[in-house]
Amino acid sequence: MDTAEIRRRFTSHFERDTTVGPHTVVPSASLLADDPTLLFVNAGMVPFKPYFLGQQTPPFDRATTVQKCIRTPDIEEVGKTTRHGTFFEMCGNFSFGDYFKSGAARLAWDLVTKSVADGGFGFDEGRLYPSILDGDEEALAVWRDEVGVPDHRIVRLGNKENYWSMGVPGPGGPCSEILYDRGPAYGPDADWASMGTDMDPRLEDRYLEFWNLVFMQDELSAVRSKSDFDVAGSLPQRNIDTGMGLERVAYLMQGVENMYEIDVMFPVIARAQELTGRRYGADHGDDVRFRVVADHVRSSMMLINDGVTPGNEGRGYVLRRLLRRAVRSMRLLGYEDRALPELMPVSRDKMGETYTELVTGWDRIAQVAYAEEDAFRTTLRSGTQIFDLAAGEVASRGETVLPGDRAFALHDTYGFPIDLTLEMAAEQGLRVDEDGFRRLMTEQRDRARADARAKKGAHADTGVYRTVLDTHGPTEWLAYSTLETESRPVALLRGGHEVPALSEGEVGELVLDRTPFYAESGGQVADAGTIVSGGARLEVVDVQRPVRGLVVHQVRVVEGELDPSAGVLATVDREWRTGARQAHSGTHVVHAALREVLGPTALQSGSYNRPGYLRLDFGWTSSLSPEQVRDIETVSQQALRADLPVDWRYMTLAEAREAGALALFGETYDDQQVRVVDIGGPWSRELCGGTHVDHSSQIGTIVVTGESSVGSGNRRIEAFTGVEGFAYLARERDVVTELTSMLKARPDDLVGRVSEMVERLRGAEKELERVRAAQVLAAAGSLADGARQVGPVKVVAHRADGLGGGDVRQLALDVRGRLPADEPGVVVVLGVDGGKVAFVAATNDAARALGADAGALVRAVGEVVGGRGGGKPDVAQGGGSDVSRADDAVAVVAPEVSRQVGGV
Ligand code: ALA
Repeated sequence: MDTAEIRRRFTSHFERDTTVGPHTVVPSASLLADDPTLLFVNAGMVPFKPYFLGQQTPPFDRATTVQKCIRTPDIEEVGKTTRHGTFFEMCGNFSFGDYFKSGAARLAWDLVTKSVADGGFGFDEGRLYPSILDGDEEALAVWRDEVGVPDHRIVRLGNKENYWSMGVPGPGGPCSEILYDRGPAYGPDADWASMGTDMDPRLEDRYLEFWNLVFMQDELSAVRSKSDFDVAGSLPQRNIDTGMGLERVAYLMQGVENMYEIDVMFPVIARAQELTGRRYGADHGDDVRFRVVADHVRSSMMLINDGVTPGNEGRGYVLRRLLRRAVRSMRLLGYEDRALPELMPVSRDKMGETYTELVTGWDRIAQVAYAEEDAFRTTLRSGTQIFDLAAGEVASRGETVLPGDRAFALHDTYGFPIDLTLEMAAEQGLRVDEDGFRRLMTEQRDRARADARAKKGAHADTGVYRTVLDTHGPTEWLAYSTLETESRPVALLRGGHEVPALSEGEVGELVLDRTPFYAESGGQVADAGTIVSGGARLEVVDVQRPVRGLVVHQVRVVEGELDPSAGVLATVDREWRTGARQAHSGTHVVHAALREVLGPTALQSGSYNRPGYLRLDFGWTSSLSPEQVRDIETVSQQALRADLPVDWRYMTLAEAREAGALALFGETYDDQQVRVVDIGGPWSRELCGGTHVDHSSQIGTIVVTGESSVGSGNRRIEAFTGVEGFAYLARERDVVTELTSMLKARPDDLVGRVSEMVERLRGAEKELERVRAAQVLAAAGSLADGARQVGPVKVVAHRADGLGGGDVRQLALDVRGRLPADEPGVVVVLGVDGGKVAFVAATNDAARALGADAGALVRAVGEVVGGRGGGKPDVAQGGGSDVSRADDAVAVVAPEVSRQVGGV
């Protein structure tokens, strides 16, 4: 049965159920979780979290989904075990206070054991083992008495296996898993009775768990590990959350070994076999690489599809790692050409049947993925050069081990993966100090973990705001309708605690029952303004919404003391807001102009705007030409001149998509109603909660100041709006004025005059260069004439002050060229310049025949001047820093040459 059919059977089983009632089929949410504690949606229940926690009322009592998920903590395990995939689909059924353990168990059992002809999966009951949390008598009774599973086939497990939580504070509960016995080929027979309550790891491959039924009833306040957590209390109602691994069921039903071999994944491996000429199934190491390719190509495609672009932190970094690991694995399989254009379309053809956006949005996805591969290939090239240098040094010291810090630097700075370093070192007969490398990696990982912990703590500490929200309800938010309102403080906080008052000079957080202040979101900064109360005057420094529904003002008491029991007058700074509206509407205009000029694949990936300024990041792989930038500005200005109306209205997300509104991934949209902002009707139609002007002409002006790269696959365009736009132009005019008076030229002649001057300067520099070279050459003649006889060898050892690297080399080679070719000759030149010594040694054939060696000469010189050098016997060079010993270094040349030629 193919994956699509399994998916269909799953949802229709629940959609058509008559035992507990029909479930609503909800489409998969984006992979980007609207949840600060999660990088990605990692389970089917994530989109429903607010329902489980009682923060929102679910529009249905029962639901079923096939949810896209990403889990990356196991990225290194991919392909090594048969069970780990970074992207997977979780089939789930959910009850929000409706049916509980009995309903969930019976529904699941029915689907998996029903015959294929009857619409089920047709699993043999004799191979199925439900597990329960040891001590969960209710679950035991359900499986034994209602479903009819013999007692000895019900597996009792402890918290570690059968208590489910998200690993972070939130909902959780005991669970039951259904295990499928794949037979003796996959491991020993289980002896459940004597196993104890921890799953024996030797049994995991054979008794494969494929469906987890969570009886969600607790709210957890802290999770330290799978078996160590604090239950804060009961959830408002008892719920069901289940997760069936689509890939796992697929490989059980398709009779293949693992998830990488199922119908929607294997074609990528098949293509990789063609490209590399290697065979899957022939070698364990290669198999792991093939599986990494199949998994990572699919995961990264799905991430890009949901709006992630490669970057150096957070989600972007995960994507970058996945793409690079895929490319690197192909390379380790012996394929060095661009791999993604060959592989990703294969994955698209399979996944696109279900996720049609992969097909319609393909151009953008391909552009992002391929650009990252190209960038990585460049990295590999420069990393290879750095590697060669390091390897050369090791070899020239006569050693065989590449130090751990070099391997680490290659990895850390050049993104050069360690297994490539190992492989290339082996090719050159070198080993790598892996212990040293791993020690540095561990240190770095520990630092990163500490950072992540600190960050998570900051996010998770929303408890105090939740309490305020629970006690006083949501803030009445008037930012769209007024700039000033009377209101009442409901909470005053300092350092995370409620305080009775705030005195002059103090900073705290104030929550009002209603507010006209815009809280930072959607790229728009918070409003500025004042809050006054009796004799107290507060300046609003920042406004945030730390939990949905609650607006929190960060305030500084400028004057008096705030007594929260008195009423206040909250006033937004009118000019600030005008500037903010101009900038935010300006951002939409620039976005629309961008898409008009570059085409619809240019899609905003992030934005920021404050009064007078905006910037917009968008997915695009090449830099924009000055003409394109100019066109974007022109289209924007035309939109202002056309005085387009700006309108907004609420609709459902489905209606917004239907109307063609651009939804920016990763933004928070309420599930029920979204706000759609139009400028000029459909010309610019975006989902947006920001504040906007009424007509485009009110933006005043949009002056685009530049375009730049922000990481691979992303560009940034910046502009000034309103009076800031005029101010920017005025500053440019001042520059022109200053230049015209300096150069005594009219503005129109400036460019001509300056380019003429630059031209002349270049000429003068060239001339200078020529004169210097002539001097060096002239010196070469007299130096050669002054060569000293050391045994049979003519030796020139010369100190040249003011001469830098390149010139030193040229001089040494020139002098060597002027020595008689048929007599042994050795030249060493030391250039002393800017506190550094650069030195070059050169030998001719006759000298080398006697044993002279330029490499050994520069090492001898280097020792004296505190430096290093290397090279071949004919020419070698180096550098040192001890200028005071340059003359001593000159003096060692003759004895060293004499030693080399054996005192002949
Ligand atoms: N939420 C449960 C899981 O992820 C079903 O296993």
